[in-house]
Amino acid sequence: MLQAFLAALLPVLGLFSDTEEFPMPSAVQNLYEVCNETFSSSAVPVPPQRAIQRLRSVLDTIKPVDVGLNEDVFENDHGYGFFGPSLWRGRHSRIVARWAAPVTYLHLYECDRFSIGIFCLPASAVIPFHNHPGMTVLSKLLFGSMYIKAYDWVDPINTETNSNPSQLRLARLEVDNVFTSPCDTSVLYPTSGGNIHSFRAVTSCAVLDVLGPPYSDIEGRNCTYYSEYPYSSLPDDGNTIPDDDDQGCAWLEEIKRPDEFIVRGAPYKGPQIEA
Ligand SMILES: *[C@@H]1O[C@H](CO)[C@@H](O)[C@H](O)[C@H]1NC(C)=O
Ligand SMILES: *[C@@H]1O[C@H](CO)[C@@H](O)[C@H](O)[C@H]1NC(C)=O
Repeated sequence: MLQAFLAALLPVLGLFSDTEEFPMPSAVQNLYEVCNETFSSSAVPVPPQRAIQRLRSVLDTIKPVDVGLNEDVFENDHGYGFFGPSLWRGRHSRIVARWAAPVTYLHLYECDRFSIGIFCLPASAVIPFHNHPGMTVLSKLLFGSMYIKAYDWVDPINTETNSNPSQLRLARLEVDNVFTSPCDTSVLYPTSGGNIHSFRAVTSCAVLDVLGPPYSDIEGRNCTYYSEYPYSSLPDDGNTIPDDDDQGCAWLEEIKRPDEFIVRGAPYKGPQIEA
């Protein structure tokens, strides 16, 4: 607002001959402002569709350079550092190393209504199945190829009051695809669009995530991790789904956060957000 006002005023004052000398807000600043309008109230669980579509189209235009990234971010320093050599030894070292390739998180912004951040994955890194309780999440693949598998609960209401001690819950497959940049921004919702997902980096890749609202242990939006089991591997506990509709269903079991899943923070080096 103030910038627009100054941009209009300064040529009049003869200080600048044209507006080009007055810098446009960065793509990231624009993203922040649209997020701020989209997630305007923590009282509204999911923003209206037209607001989500607008935010989605803003994310669609964001390029790695807009967030200070280039694709050799991994070559420069081995993806912000792998394990020390000791973990690479031993019979199963190759498996350990593949699974444990650490993920790097670049934090851009967080308030109580939304957060913005970037996950950088070296090739073959995995972000295991995890949920986004009560959240809307927009994900823009900035570069590279990523295999995404995502489920929604078959019965989301029972999920809240699940009394099953084994913590096994029936989920329906929503996404099962390799995505290669450039591709459209994907959106997941509290009970649709694949709220429980896992990422596997086919090549090194980076994904820009907007979470509204962010995770919060205090407000009950904990991040829970899961293992998947084929639907046919376990007896159904009743009449949850008709026999002919079990395509793409699986059981998800709550697990503790896998030790091998390592996320490291690194400084964000792109244009800063001014809130
Ligand atoms: C962000 O949103 C809040 C709440 O809707 C509003 O008060 C504030 O002015 C907004 N800030 C910016 C920079 O747009
Ligand atoms: C969420 O995390 C908080 C803090 O760690 C914990 O007290 C609470 O029991 C957790 N809730 C669930 C549902 O796991």
